[in-house]
Order: sequence, then structure tokens, then C-alpha cells
Amino acid sequence: MKRLLVILLALMMAFTFSACGDQNNEGEDPGDDQTVTVDDQQDADDEDEEEPEDIDEEEPEDIDDEEPEDEPEDEPEAVKDNLVDPSEVPLRGDEPPTGDDKSVRGIPDLIDVLTYDDGDLLVLVNKYHGTVPDYKPVDMVAIDPSLGTWNDMSLKKEAYDAYLEMYNDAKAQGYDIKICSAYRSYDGQQSLHLNALAAYSADFARMYSAYPGRSEHHTGLAVDITSASMGWGLKQDFADYADGKWLYDHCQDYGFILRYTKDGEDITGYMYEPWHFRYVGEEAAKEIMEQGITLEEYLGKE
Ligand code: DAL
Ligand code: ZN
Ligand code: ZN
Repeated sequence: MKRLLVILLALMMAFTFSACGDQNNEGEDPGDDQTVTVDDQQDADDEDEEEPEDIDEEEPEDIDDEEPEDEPEDEPEAVKDNLVDPSEVPLRGDEPPTGDDKSVRGIPDLIDVLTYDDGDLLVLVNKYHGTVPDYKPVDMVAIDPSLGTWNDMSLKKEAYDAYLEMYNDAKAQGYDIKICSAYRSYDGQQSLHLNALAAYSADFARMYSAYPGRSEHHTGLAVDITSASMGWGLKQDFADYADGKWLYDHCQDYGFILRYTKDGEDITGYMYEPWHFRYVGEEAAKEIMEQGITLEEYLGKE
């Protein structure tokens, strides 16, 4: 039994999901049949119930600019066995699951809920600080469709202006990047979360998909960035690609931080997401990235 689990784990770790879907669903999967599209802007170098820390350690290091080879397209059985019936997940209006589990798998009780956008660029939305369903960021602007993998995406103007500068500089370096997820409404987040629960065990889904009303994407200050070198998917070794590394090294110059770091998993409550950047303004971004800390640590909040 233990042996079987180990084999399954190894199988799943070799199994890279590629998905830069979002509000829309099955869009442009790069067509690589060795990848699987999940309806979240998510990848996951997988693993299931066991220690999430191991994912990173055991991840192959030998990735360069080439697209890494992925493995089987069959869904591992352990995942299938753990499917959660989406109809059992509390929907809007229902109480979210509560408890004191602050691990990457949990959905702890809320400390507070944000009701309106007061323009604070350092606003904290995470597993403990939520948003009301009707939360609406102000000063939203449409993202130029040519800069995204989907149409109809938007961001707060300040974040978008900064993104444009970063994008232009990235382009000048020869990097081909696009936004694959930006602002998400409560309902949009809910469908992503339900899709994640339908695809994976609840424990695993919650390591990468925020419960509706707990996603930073609701603030209009977060972007998921993909690239041609990643086949327009999302992969956990993005920072090993030249473009992912450039973003990691330079994002703070434009006021962005890498929000879900490897070292910060226990603090953010989410697994490493090398594609998720959050606009906080230049001063905070420089301090956060230079110190290698999380937004939570910078703000001194849970
Ligand atoms: N993937 C991030 C945590 C979200 O769902 O907002
Ligand atoms: Zn708060
Ligand atoms: Zn994201």
C-alpha cells in the first residue's frame, strides 16, 4: 500500500498541469497532449495529500529555456478517488468552511472582510482577510486583448500602467509574455474553485485555489503571467526559464512582487506560484523582494 502510494506520488509529480484558463475555460491549451488544462490559472507540480514541501525539493532542476517534457496524460487514480462533488461545496451565500487550520490545505476563519476599495495598494486579501461578494475595485481598466491569453480581462489602472512598463521592457529583452488571469469577480473565483475541487482532492485544490471571497485576484491588483516558453501554460519551474527569471528579478522595479513564494508557503497558505504577481507599488515591492519576505510579513499581519 505504501509502495503504491509512493509510485502514485512519483507519477503525479512528473505530471505537469498546464492551464492558464480563467474566467473562460478551455481556451487555448497549447495543444500539447501531455498537458492537462485545469480551469484555474494553475499548474501544480503535483503531489497530493502528503507533504507539500517535498514538491519543491524534488522538482527537477535541469530546466532551461526549453519546454520541459511532461508525462502521462492519464489522471492518476489517487486523484480520481478523491474527487469532491462540487454540489457539496458551499456556494455563495452559504457559510464557508471554518476552523483553525492555517496550513496550505485549510480554510481558516476570517479575521476580517474587505467591503470596499479605498485605494490602498497594500490591501491584504488572503485566507484570513476576505472580500465581500460584491467587492468592486475602482479605477478598473480593460487589458489590451493582445496582451492576454483571454479577452475581457481587467486590472486596476495603477497596476495595469505598471504592468505595461514591465511588459514593454520584457519585450525589449525578447521575452514573449502574456497575462492569463487578472481581476476575478467573486463568482468567477467560485467557478474556478469548484473546478479545482472537481479535478483534485479538496486538500490539494485548496493549496492553489482560493475559496471565493479569499482571492487576491478580486482586488484587481494581481496578475498571472504566462509565456511562450511555457507554452502559454503555467508551470512551477517558470522561474527557471529566462523570462520567468527576468520577471522574478525585475518585478519590483515596476512595483510588483512575487506573491506566493517557495519559502512563504506556510505564511501565505498557498503553494509556490512563480506566475502570480501582485502590484503593491514600487517602494513596498523593493523592500519585500529585497528582503525575500511575504506581503503578510511586510504588513505584520496574518
Ligand atoms: N491561486 C490563487 C491563490 C488564487 O486562487 O487566488
Ligand atoms: Zn484584513
Ligand atoms: Zn494568481
